[in-house]
Amino acid sequence: MATNRTFTMLKPDAVENGHMGKIMDMIIQNGFTVKAMKYTRLTEKQAGEFYAVHKERPFYDELVSYMTSGTIVAAILEKEDAVASFRKLIGSTDPAEAEEGTIRRAYAESKSRNAVHGSDSDENAAIEGAFHFSPSEIF
Ligand code: RTP
Ligand code: MG
Repeated sequence: MATNRTFTMLKPDAVENGHMGKIMDMIIQNGFTVKAMKYTRLTEKQAGEFYAVHKERPFYDELVSYMTSGTIVAAILEKEDAVASFRKLIGSTDPAEAEEGTIRRAYAESKSRNAVHGSDSDENAAIEGAFHFSPSEIF
């Protein structure tokens, strides 16, 4: 059964390029409620663990270095069918393939520096949200 929460990170390129407010506006205008939000930075260990599934991929080292290169915004979002609905709003990993109206189409620099993360399953949404927020920080 689809749950109603997902987890996102506005990645370092989005924050560096000044797109934080515009991306949050798109998220809210598309019907997501912010349940928790934090301006933070990933350590190398945290980024490595977060993307451990890609450890053997050629882009892994670049990915960890990029995700630790600057500040990020981590957030828990709520909406019906949140995981699928948010993946649709962010668009394809590569902005060149992302549909018009998606966050990555509008704000991603490249396939590597692609502005935003969205959980890919309900299970991962719960794990990733709990990694960044304690229950008392979720409203
Ligand atoms: P995310 O996990 O960040 O929401 O992105 P995603 O599901 O759309 O893509 P995924 O396959 O999980 O890849 C994770 C992140 O690794 C970087 N990447 N670079 N240069 C490349 O070929 C490449 N492929 C992936 C991107 O930052 C991607 O979002
Ligand atoms: Mg992914």
